[in-house]
Amino acid sequence: MATNDLTGLTALVTGATSGIGRATALTLARDGASVLVHGRNADRGEAVVKEITAAGGTARFVAGDLGDVADVQSVIDAAGDVDILVNNAGFSWFGPTVELPVETFDALFAANVRAAYLLVAAFAPKMAAKGSGSIVSVDSMAGKLGLGGGAAYGATKAALTALTRSWAAEFSPAGVRVNAVAPGPVFTEGTSEELITQLGTTTPFNRAGQPQEIAEAIRFLASPKASYITGVTLSVDGGRTAI
Ligand SMILES: NC(=O)c1ccc[n+]([C@@H]2O[C@H](COP(=O)([O-])OP(=O)(O)OC[C@H]3O[C@@H](n4cnc5c(N)ncnc54)[C@H](OP(=O)(O)O)[C@@H]3O)[C@@H](O)[C@H]2O)c1
Repeated sequence: MATNDLTGLTALVTGATSGIGRATALTLARDGASVLVHGRNADRGEAVVKEITAAGGTARFVAGDLGDVADVQSVIDAAGDVDILVNNAGFSWFGPTVELPVETFDALFAANVRAAYLLVAAFAPKMAAKGSGSIVSVDSMAGKLGLGGGAAYGATKAALTALTRSWAAEFSPAGVRVNAVAPGPVFTEGTSEELITQLGTTTPFNRAGQPQEIAEAIRFLASPKASYITGVTLSVDGGRTAI
């Protein structure tokens, strides 16, 4: 019987100092994984590590700006061997297309897409050599819907969906599962409460989500319970993309 038990496994959760990543790190640690809490803000990173260890779990903080290729490499080096990779770190920008600075366009693709690509390139072959591993990337409903003002951000998330399918084709024959979750609006430190509340009213549930509701889906896909699932992007959006 497959379980949620992640004892003996190491999970790298990028962007785990806040929001969805933080909830995911706490959840995977509760299931027994040794968690590498990644982020840029060391104070918030250490606070998450403390919360995990206080609850009896194992964790350490790994710092790095994923918009920077050299930093991505130092995260890879510091992480060592990883059984579960959660590509969660990222940011959004909403506004008129003409007003998006080209530097921000590049930063969006660097942090949201290129970093995930480099991390998978580093870790997936090692997982494949072992014959097991699980990768979960955090997409967005913005990658599936045409949200006004969200063209570039949505494109970064649609790219992750495409990468997820291709990585499944590339690595799953060797036993590595590669999936994604696509959250709807979720209240986090990095989002505007007003925008998230408004987007929540467009879902069949008439509300936005909480980070833990996304973490539960990531936990499932990361765990052996999802043993026959690869290449999917699971919408966790209160039904928003179904209507
Ligand atoms: N909240 C939503 O409504 C929503 C909906 C759909 C998808 N998502 C996606 O879910 C993921 C998490 O979002 P969230 O709302 O939980 O965001 P959040 O609260 O702002 O947290 C973002 C996390 O990502 C890290 N991060 C951002 N840019 C980084 C960079 N360049 N290098 C390293 N770390 C970086 C931050 O680290 P530091 O703060 O330590 O620097 C932080 O830990 C993102 O990929 C986002 O696009 C969110």
